[in-house]
Amino acid sequence: MNDGDGTLVAGAQGRKFGPLGTALVIIPTYNEAENIKSIVGRVREAVPEAHVLVADDNSPDGTGKLADELTVDDDHVHVLHRKGKEGLGAAYLAGFRWGLERDYGVLVEMDADGSHQPEELPRLLTALKSADLVLGSRWVPGGRVVNWPKSREVISRGGSLYSRLALDLPLRDITGGYRAFRRETLEGLGLDQVASQGYCFQVDLARRAVKAGYHVVEVPITFVERELGDSKMSRDILVEALWRVTAWGVGERVGKVTGRGGKPSKP
Ligand code: GDD
Ligand code: MN
Repeated sequence: MNDGDGTLVAGAQGRKFGPLGTALVIIPTYNEAENIKSIVGRVREAVPEAHVLVADDNSPDGTGKLADELTVDDDHVHVLHRKGKEGLGAAYLAGFRWGLERDYGVLVEMDADGSHQPEELPRLLTALKSADLVLGSRWVPGGRVVNWPKSREVISRGGSLYSRLALDLPLRDITGGYRAFRRETLEGLGLDQVASQGYCFQVDLARRAVKAGYHVVEVPITFVERELGDSKMSRDILVEALWRVTAWGVGERVGKVTGRGGKPSKP
C-alpha cells in the first residue's frame, strides 16, 4: 500500500517513519482448497493495490493448482510452490524471502481460512505508517474471537500470558498470525535464526522485534474461526512451543546474570 505523498510520519519516541510502499500479503496453505479462492478474492477487494503470494506446501487437495488458476488474469496474485509440508513458519520464511527479493515495502501474514479478515487489513496498514511491526491482536480492548471453543481461547490466552511473563514482553497477543511488517523490520530481524517450528515462529518473531527495539503496535482484530477445512494445530505443536518459550525465557535470565547470550542479536 502506498500512503500517498510519501511524507514521513512521526512515530514513537519522535521517530520518523518512511512511506510504506506496496504490500505483499503472504498466505501459507496446506489443504485449503475450500478457502483459497474466497480469501484471495477478499484480499484483492479489500486492498486492491496489494499483491498476494500463496505459499503452498504441495497440498494433496490441489490448493496449489487452484491458486495457479487465480493468477491467470490477475497479475497481483503469485504462487510459491514448495516441495512438501514443512510447517507454516517455514512457508512464511520462504514467502518473506520471495518478497524481500522483490520491490515490496510491506509483508503481511494472513491465514487462508478466513480467521484473519482481509477487510481489517487497511487498519493494520494505517497503524504501520507509524510503526515497524503491527500485530493483529485478539487480546487488546476491542479485539475478540468468534466461534472459538472456550478450550481454545483458554489455551491461546494462556499461551500469550505465559510468553509475556517468561519473555518479559509488553504484548497481549504474542502467538497471533495476522501481522504487517515493514521490509526494514524483517531485514533487521535476522530471518536465518528465527525458529520456524509451529507456533514458536510467531513468538520468536515478536520477541526478536521487541528486543531489537522496534516499535511494535497491537491493533484489535476480530478473529473468526474457520468454517471450512481442518486446523493443523496439534498437541505436539503446543508442547513444542511451551518447551521453546521456557528455554528462551531461562536463556534470557541466565544471560542477564552472566552478561552473555540469551537475547536475539540487535540489527
Ligand atoms: N504452507 C503451509 N505449510 N501452510 C500451512 C502449514 C504448512 O505446513 N500448516 C498450516 N498452514 C497454513 C494453513 O493452511 C492456514 O492458512 C494457516 O497456515 C493457519 O493454519 P491453521 O491450521 O488454520 O492454524 P490455526 O488456526 O490453528 O492457527 C492460527 O492461530 C494460531 C494461534 O493464534 C494461526 O494464525 C497461527 O499463526 C497462530 O499462531
Ligand atoms: Mn485457522
